Amino acid sequence: MKAVVVYESHWGNTAAVAQAIADGIGPDTVVMTTDDADLSAVSEVDLLVAGAPVIGFGLPTARMEDAVADSARRAPTLPDISHPSLRSWLRELPRGHGRGAAFETRVRWSPGGATGAIERSLEQAGYPATGTPGKFIVTGRYGPLRAGELERARHWGAGLKSRLTTT
Ligand SMILES: Cc1cc2nc3c(=O)[nH]c(=O)nc-3n(C[C@H](O)[C@H](O)[C@H](O)COP(=O)(O)O)c2cc1C
Repeated sequence: MKAVVVYESHWGNTAAVAQAIADGIGPDTVVMTTDDADLSAVSEVDLLVAGAPVIGFGLPTARMEDAVADSARRAPTLPDISHPSLRSWLRELPRGHGRGAAFETRVRWSPGGATGAIERSLEQAGYPATGTPGKFIVTGRYGPLRAGELERARHWGAGLKSRLTTT
């Protein structure tokens, strides 16, 4: 089974979750940021997993990417704003034939979320969602991840794989 995990991450929380999900899926799983993820690399994948932080109650928009850049002055570490947003990456995603799965990192008490928009884009590109989306919690505005979330992410990734290999 060919699986790719692509993510957007500014402070590293979503990147860490993406790696843990890939570990759960299996050793051959490729993990990529939105600019490593040359679109030809995702052609003919059986499972395309995509994830982003919730910013401004949803999947980051261009305006919210600006808010991330602005928050650099207040944040404990500088955000990585060098990659295209997952939203723009999904817009360019060529049509495929596999299953999709969406995940997000977020604070526990926020309304909204990113996974609905990610799932819709994946589905439009030919990757209908398998299972329930993954929602992984950070304990502050910039992280860190709550204790146990990486283990939960590995487990969620393993669940994706077993659903695909048993159906
Ligand atoms: C400007 C800004 C806005 C945010 N808005 C939300 C939000 O609306 N809902 C939420 O659950 N978390 C929100 N967060 C928290 C981030 O989703 C969380 O820190 C995420 O794990 C960051 O992921 P990253 O480290 O991969 O960039 C916000 C964080 C920042 C810096």
